Amino acid sequence: MTATDKKNLTDHLWRPMTQHQMLRGTAPNRMASAEGCFISDQNGNRVLDACAGLWCVNIGYGRKELADVAQQQMAQLNFLNPMMSCDPVINLAEKIQGLLGFDCHVYFSSTGSEANETAFKMARQYHLQAGKGGERRYKIISRYRAYHGNTMGAMAATGQAERKMGYEPGPAGFIHVMPPYPYRRHPKLTAEEHAEECARQLEETIIHEGAETVAAFIMEPMISGGGILVPPDNYAMLVREICDRYGVLLIFDEVVSGFGRIGTMFGYEHWKAQADIFTFAKGLSSGYIPIAATVVKEEIFEKFEGNLADNLHFRQVNTFGGHPVSSAVAMKAIQIVEDENLPENARKMGDYILAQLKEKIGDHPYAGEVRGKGLLIGVELVEDRQTKVPLPDPKVLGIVGHCIQNGIILGRNSNTVPGRCNVLLIAPPLIVTQSEADQIVDTIAAAMGKAIN
Ligand SMILES: Cc1ncc(COP(=O)(O)O)c(C=O)c1O
Repeated sequence: MTATDKKNLTDHLWRPMTQHQMLRGTAPNRMASAEGCFISDQNGNRVLDACAGLWCVNIGYGRKELADVAQQQMAQLNFLNPMMSCDPVINLAEKIQGLLGFDCHVYFSSTGSEANETAFKMARQYHLQAGKGGERRYKIISRYRAYHGNTMGAMAATGQAERKMGYEPGPAGFIHVMPPYPYRRHPKLTAEEHAEECARQLEETIIHEGAETVAAFIMEPMISGGGILVPPDNYAMLVREICDRYGVLLIFDEVVSGFGRIGTMFGYEHWKAQADIFTFAKGLSSGYIPIAATVVKEEIFEKFEGNLADNLHFRQVNTFGGHPVSSAVAMKAIQIVEDENLPENARKMGDYILAQLKEKIGDHPYAGEVRGKGLLIGVELVEDRQTKVPLPDPKVLGIVGHCIQNGIILGRNSNTVPGRCNVLLIAPPLIVTQSEADQIVDTIAAAMGKAIN
């Protein structure tokens, strides 16, 4: 390697999900600033971020109000041992409770993975203390295709082989079932019958594992990173009934869907069924600062109360959980989501993008299905619309690459299921305008057009 080569590398930074070999000999583009839906590099070239970072910058980039709040809070009280209390953290818990509208307690951490790990531990401890014979329910059932995080427990719950290869074995007691995937359902089933079948498989899994060993079932209201799988309307309620029948806690991972992304403040609102535990991260602060939350219904929290000597309390601390600065920033971000009615804009713009995509690429030979809800939209790419064989990686990457070269950052379900990383992901900030939406759609249409030639 020459000195020049070395200079051109990101010498000491190990980027996630990156094959660094590909960066050799290239000068990585350095991004320098951002505003609204656009990120600019050091030379002032702008790209429209149709991924909102990692589906988190819901209120858009460059909101100075958040910087002001952070500065003020940092000057006043920059850190507090999370075993103590201060206003920003108390107020944020109140705010989340108010938005959810039911009695609950909120435990803060920093990332979605931590929020899910916390949920798993709470579920296990809850069952032990719930007074039903001290059950040792420890198994967590989750779904293939879903992503729940990168830490060992959250990774074990994740149903994507490529995110686990080389890192397993994970902790014991994690089991997967298939999620509804209407596009690839059995042709003889309606979407609703397909959802019933998936729910039935969940029930069978609980029975065959022994219900008395199953602590919780975790699901995203709508699978996001795993390829935008929109469940039929009857699914969530069926799951709720099954969990109730077998005393299994239901956890909704709202790390992506929380705070407006799919057109309602919380994702579950679309499907009515409620969980016992909710996890939030990304949209909670619109990605301005790390913060996550695990919210449990009051009936669960109550089982953690008792005499100190009985050790019933939750015996975990996160140094950066309940951080005053993160909490103050998150509060401001939520206020913006509410003041600007961003869930409504997500719904409107999401419907618009879906309709435009269907019109402009719906008949394209590679367009298997265009689907989504709010501003979480996917385009499943196939080689053949009859056989539904997934479009091979190089072609998918070609489409994503063409979009990036033409000013649109687009995602895909990368490193999920081997041979099935064929879904384009579109999730711009919730402030996206119609003309920006047009720019996204037109660029995708052009990229698809080019891919066929
Ligand atoms: C649904 C879901 N849950 C959990 C996580 C993990 O969040 P984090 O990366 O903050 O640990 C993610 C991250 O993309 C996610 O999409």
